[in-house]
Amino acid sequence: MDRVVQRVRERLAQARKVLVISGAGISAESGVPTFRGAGGVWNNKDLMRLASPEGFAEDPARAWTWYDGRRRQLAGCVPNPAHRALVDLERCVPDFLIATQNVDQLHEAAGSRAIEHVHGSIWNVRCTAARCPRSRGETYYPAVPLPEIPPRCACGALLRPAVVWFGEILPAEPLERIDRFIRSGAVDSVLAVGTMAVFPYIVAWALLAQRLGACLVEINPEPTDLSHAADIRLIGKAGDLLPQVVGSAADPR
Ligand code: OAD
Repeated sequence: MDRVVQRVRERLAQARKVLVISGAGISAESGVPTFRGAGGVWNNKDLMRLASPEGFAEDPARAWTWYDGRRRQLAGCVPNPAHRALVDLERCVPDFLIATQNVDQLHEAAGSRAIEHVHGSIWNVRCTAARCPRSRGETYYPAVPLPEIPPRCACGALLRPAVVWFGEILPAEPLERIDRFIRSGAVDSVLAVGTMAVFPYIVAWALLAQRLGACLVEINPEPTDLSHAADIRLIGKAGDLLPQVVGSAADPR
């Protein structure tokens, strides 16, 4: 086994507290396209037309047609060895959290339990009418394909995907819980897996945990905005590397 992989493996085997920051790359081997890079779903797309409040207001059917296509694609995807390795890691590490940017819910499908969703879920919807109680919470809405485009709430108003769009504020509660996790007792290791780390809050969490004592491990085949700060870079696919680094942590101690 590669010596660097072995180092991470030994570290995780001793760890009492681990934070995983996951992005689209962890689901790539499940057949979910990433957002950026080769084959990225955002390539050649006008993001603001599909994933912003203004784009949605301009043409809800256009945005929902795109989300319906993405939901159809995701409905056929299952967790891969990277997701499953994190389930094993969670069983062995007393204090564990996944902060995911992914809206696909493949961590849950694999069996992970301690998860914070930073960008929402593509399987949930919210009503767009402020007067409707369903505008304040999220409703699970798994229909694939959608029965109508754009779908409507029981109150008659438009539904929208419960994902965070460009220009929107992130959901406060997951952010608070992630921040509290990082600040309440030193994290042993942060695993940044399959994310380009283009958003400042992603970089900030990783660096804060590192400043408070964590070893920052990046797992990604390509360099990212976090690579320069990583203590250890494992260059390769999450589905290959995560099962290797979790192996010993999953062994009975
Ligand atoms: P990106 O699409 O920006 O980046 C995907 C990352 O995964 C890249 O760094 C790839 O090199 C890496 N990658 C690809 N295949 C991999 C594999 N098999 N194993 C490990 N890594 C691999 O995805 P995110 O960083 O998650 O937001 O993007 C963040 C946010 O941007 C998304 O949540 C989405 C998007 O706009 C919203 O929808 C709100």
